[in-house]
Amino acid sequence: MVEWILSTIPLFKVVHIAALLTWCGGLLALPLMLSRHDPDGLAEDYRRIRHATHNVYTLVVTPAAVFTVIAGTWLIFLRGVFVPWLFAKLVFVVLLVVAHVWIGHIVAKVAELPEDHTPPRPTLPLLAVCVPIVAILILVLAKPALDGITFPDWLLEPRGGQLPFEVPS
Ligand code: HEM
Repeated sequence: MVEWILSTIPLFKVVHIAALLTWCGGLLALPLMLSRHDPDGLAEDYRRIRHATHNVYTLVVTPAAVFTVIAGTWLIFLRGVFVPWLFAKLVFVVLLVVAHVWIGHIVAKVAELPEDHTPPRPTLPLLAVCVPIVAILILVLAKPALDGITFPDWLLEPRGGQLPFEVPS
């Protein structure tokens, strides 16, 4: 049973990486798509681009974010990575989620208030997405020790609960 659970690590890594590529790719594409919303253009063009951004956000990017977080959370326990770089990574994941919600807010505003809408410049949302992505990739690929940062004990020590299987060291 234990061996079977641990044998799912590659599978969850594949799901994690496929989902995060879709999530991050979508978050980079959406600001560029949103900057094409021009209420002064043809109504049909406006409707088409509005539907495209809405569908990409709700049917692709948000489910991909959910899969990334579920697979990543499962990997924390399977790989036993209760280490500083992982906690630092989670801080940047929170920033990425904030950028995700902000872009969703712009998508909703475009749909609800077309008359008040001017196409947003993509620079700021793109920056809000790129900074956490680059920071996460540096942390997860370099896995720095981050010895200078002290973490509270409750983050680093088992709290008495026990997984039903051993994790590899
Ligand atoms: C709540 C969200 C997330 C959690 C809990 C999480 C957790 C994890 C864990 C535990 C691993 C395995 C690490 C290891 O095997 O040493 C991993 C791998 C990875 N994560 Fe995440 N992650 C999350 C979001 C993200 C995001 C948003 C990105 C990219 C922007 C990302 C990029 C990666 C990459 C590239 C790997 C493979 C690293 C390797 O195998 O060396 N993760 N993640």
